[in-house]
Amino acid sequence: MQVNSRDFFLFLSKNKTLNRAAQSWGGGIASGKIVGGIDFPSSVKFIKELNEEGLSVTVDHLGEFVTSESVAKERTEECIQTIETIAAQKINSQVSLKLTSLGLDINDQLVYENMTKILDTAEKHQIMVTIDMEDEQRCQKTLDIFKDFKQSYNYISTVLQAYLYRTAKDIDDLNEYHPSLRLVKGAYKESADVAFPEKSDVDDNFKKIINMHLLNGNFTAIATHDDEIIEYTKRLVDKHNIPKNQFEFQMLYGMRTTTQKELVKDGYNMRVYIPYGQDWYGYFMRRLAERPANLAFVLKGMTKK
Ligand code: FDA
Repeated sequence: MQVNSRDFFLFLSKNKTLNRAAQSWGGGIASGKIVGGIDFPSSVKFIKELNEEGLSVTVDHLGEFVTSESVAKERTEECIQTIETIAAQKINSQVSLKLTSLGLDINDQLVYENMTKILDTAEKHQIMVTIDMEDEQRCQKTLDIFKDFKQSYNYISTVLQAYLYRTAKDIDDLNEYHPSLRLVKGAYKESADVAFPEKSDVDDNFKKIINMHLLNGNFTAIATHDDEIIEYTKRLVDKHNIPKNQFEFQMLYGMRTTTQKELVKDGYNMRVYIPYGQDWYGYFMRRLAERPANLAFVLKGMTKK
């Protein structure tokens, strides 16, 4: 059996022993490079640096494998505290979260209670909360929860993944809610039963859903490091006179930093996704799965302070 590097890093991303070991190392390896810091206060200086350069931010408290109710509640409190700090310090940042960190795998009542508390705080401060999309098994449930909350809250958004066959239909189904959506290629290992195995098909579907959501008149965050997709979007918005406040580009912290600044210089809205927290390991492994070259500059940083 042949194992490629993507499969290898995705396999490692789920290893609980390595995840625990990484927590005890602290965030030193990745801090200020591809993650903020081990907590929100230590990430604020990196966020403010980006804000000063005209980039907006979304922060995500990293957390994988949450199976305990008390941890899910801690994660909820952390998220609320983060929103309060963003508002108090007038930081240009939104919040992203994963429903599994709030108890999605534990019970529905818990995740609804936790989301309600977070969204009440977000609504009070008018700070957008985006529900990241996790693996395909959790996609329908995530969208059901999104739709339930979208009926009573404005400051909520979610993510759709171009690699799933279902996504064009999800764009259609969600349209009645006029949702703000982040569109991505998709980061998890999925079977050919549910996702396009070929990268070229994923890219074609990505363009298709960007086109659909923008032409439906909805706010669209195009989250990619791929120049071809970025150029496609620029041509599309020019052709249809789509205003700059109806879309933004998003990239991950530490990736393509020159391109991020160039997009701002050219007048586009650019948002940087900054993860922070002790649980940086799984996130780091998924980035390596996408692009092993991501390891090079992090390793360089280990020897150079
Ligand atoms: P891809 O990895 O296909 O790369 C295409 C090309 O872009 C490469 O060939 C190279 O030329 C260039 N490139 C890529 N990375 C580069 C780098 N670091 N430096 C230089 N060139 C580079 N996924 C998910 O499943 N659920 C989610 O909720 C999210 N959320 C999310 C938020 C944000 C802000 C981003 C940017 C991404 C996500 N993702 C995600 C991850 C997403 O699904 C996807 O796995 C990665 O963005 C990688 O795909 P790309 O579109 O960047 O291009």
